[in-house]
Amino acid sequence: MIKKSELYYPTEEFKKNAWVNDPKIYEEAGKDPVKFWEKLAQELFWFKPWKKGFLHKPPYFQWFVGGKINITSNIFERDWEARKNRIALIWEPEPISEESRIFTYAELFKEVCQCANYLKKIGVKKGDRVGIYLPMIPEAVMAMLACARIGAVHIVVFSAFSPDALRVRLQDTEAKVLITADGYYRGGKFIDLLKNAEDGIKETKVKKLVVAQRSGKTPWSFDSAQDKQEEKDFCKAAEMNSEDLQFILYTSGSTGKPKGCMHACGGYTVQSYWTGKWIFDFHENDIFWCTSDLGWVTGHTYTTYSPLLNGITTLMFEGAPNFPTPDRWAQIIEKHGVTVFYTAPTAIRMFESYGEDILKKYRFDKLRLLGSVGEPIDESAWLWYYKNIGKENCPIVDTWWQTETGGILITSLPGVGPFKPAFTGLPFPGVKAEVKDGNLLILPPFAPGLLRGIYKNPKKYLETYWSQYGKEAYFTSDGAIVDENGLIRIIGRVDDVIKVAGHRISTGEMEAAINEHPEITECAVIGVPDRIKGEAPIVFAVYNGAKLSEEIKKEIIGQIQKGIGPIALPKEVYLAEDLPKTRSGKIMRRVLKKLWAKEELGDLSTLANPESVDKIKKILYG
Ligand code: WTA
Repeated sequence: MIKKSELYYPTEEFKKNAWVNDPKIYEEAGKDPVKFWEKLAQELFWFKPWKKGFLHKPPYFQWFVGGKINITSNIFERDWEARKNRIALIWEPEPISEESRIFTYAELFKEVCQCANYLKKIGVKKGDRVGIYLPMIPEAVMAMLACARIGAVHIVVFSAFSPDALRVRLQDTEAKVLITADGYYRGGKFIDLLKNAEDGIKETKVKKLVVAQRSGKTPWSFDSAQDKQEEKDFCKAAEMNSEDLQFILYTSGSTGKPKGCMHACGGYTVQSYWTGKWIFDFHENDIFWCTSDLGWVTGHTYTTYSPLLNGITTLMFEGAPNFPTPDRWAQIIEKHGVTVFYTAPTAIRMFESYGEDILKKYRFDKLRLLGSVGEPIDESAWLWYYKNIGKENCPIVDTWWQTETGGILITSLPGVGPFKPAFTGLPFPGVKAEVKDGNLLILPPFAPGLLRGIYKNPKKYLETYWSQYGKEAYFTSDGAIVDENGLIRIIGRVDDVIKVAGHRISTGEMEAAINEHPEITECAVIGVPDRIKGEAPIVFAVYNGAKLSEEIKKEIIGQIQKGIGPIALPKEVYLAEDLPKTRSGKIMRRVLKKLWAKEELGDLSTLANPESVDKIKKILYG
């Protein structure tokens, strides 16, 4: 890359081959964003063209109204002759002793059709919700695509979520089928996922568990290996209305209950195709590795849909990037010749913490572009990524987006730049953003992939996104600033959501899980800075009982394990007699945060119980 003061630009060579290399695109798109998106949408395959590009009835809106599409037809049938023998999916298992599994587009299509036919056979119909609780194995991608093929709505639940967390999602969506696996490898151990699945479907409407075999020789067993062979190799695509549901994905918000973000077929397909094409500059021979789990939106859009819509190779890895050795991720990049690598700042800081020595063995000479997502990337992590992985040659696209937005909305384009450490860049062409009072807003016509609602909860949709600045501006819940070039820097969430190792966790949800404990009457969870994970949760719980403190702390951790799963485990649990509160009884989490950071507390006159502050000081500082 070329450096001009604090800004970086792509090399001439990169620019020459990039899909977009002229900043004029922003002007063109900005003139009439709806027309711009309509032009892009035409490159895809539609059963029936749309009548109206954008229809706005605040706070609701529609895109490509009247059009009919299927995302899988755009993966498999569009451009089929050119892509059928290309590699669609590379799967790297955790155990080094096992072989990678590799699928061409033709092979993947056959698997998807067989699974789709099987789902139909067991009664899944267009519009039905299907839960997917699978680890990082190829069957997870197949299951998602099989649902999309027949117009069923998938709800992917992260495999490390607890049975309770799974149950809430299945109940809310009334899914009748759950696709799971007998287990998976993590950290050298075989994890019994089926047990969690069986537990999670209790008290739900799930009548049928479909089980992928991770431990055995046959990849899918449906009911038995025999069943699978009986399914035909072709399944016709369901013709979906643009505004039909593509999928629901649950995410954390300010209050206790997770929210089901609803994504629409037409807009999601258009946005996931084009953001991948322009931001990761997908070309025919690219091998793309997005390290996110499929249970998060990043895995949905950039492991499954976007690379496959673009006809390139997507790589998925079952394990953790630092197991069994800290350089496992580097081995994978070299082994499979990854050309574009997309990960989170947490992973970058972890790689950095192992030192540069372990990188000496790796040349990364196929890498041409790097991406970052999920949390703010600090300048030092950015520079380390740039030097040690990109070898000062690869553009870095820091991509801002959310479960709600379906695809990336803010980033620098790799063939245009500029790239500025710790800044994500400009809104994607055709997207209008504004920073008002420090808050990041997305303005009409938003983006085709933005969520259409919260499942069964229109009130929450209105309150969360369309009340702070009216019904015409999407409130992101992120704080941001803009520099003199218009580049946007994301500061972080302004609500009770924290990003722990890039994972989105609600402190309210953690508190609700802890409060389920019969002996804990009150608690507060706050996010505190963490060198590697960015942020980490800590817990203050009110406990005045007789149990040993170690015992009750363990129980508190157990509550979080049960309600959410191991990803939300706190860095520290403190037991207190009382928590600082306002006169109306609201816990002052802000005061706790300051106490933890040893910052000036300011005016405490609004506290109902100022004496609690000294007691907490004692607990924290001894
Ligand atoms: C944060 C993940 C800074 C942000 C795709 C957002 C980021 C939340 C970035 C959404 C980035 C995501 N820089 N912060 N490049 N990307 N975020 O729903 O706070 O898991 O609101 O979607 O992650 O998290 P979610």
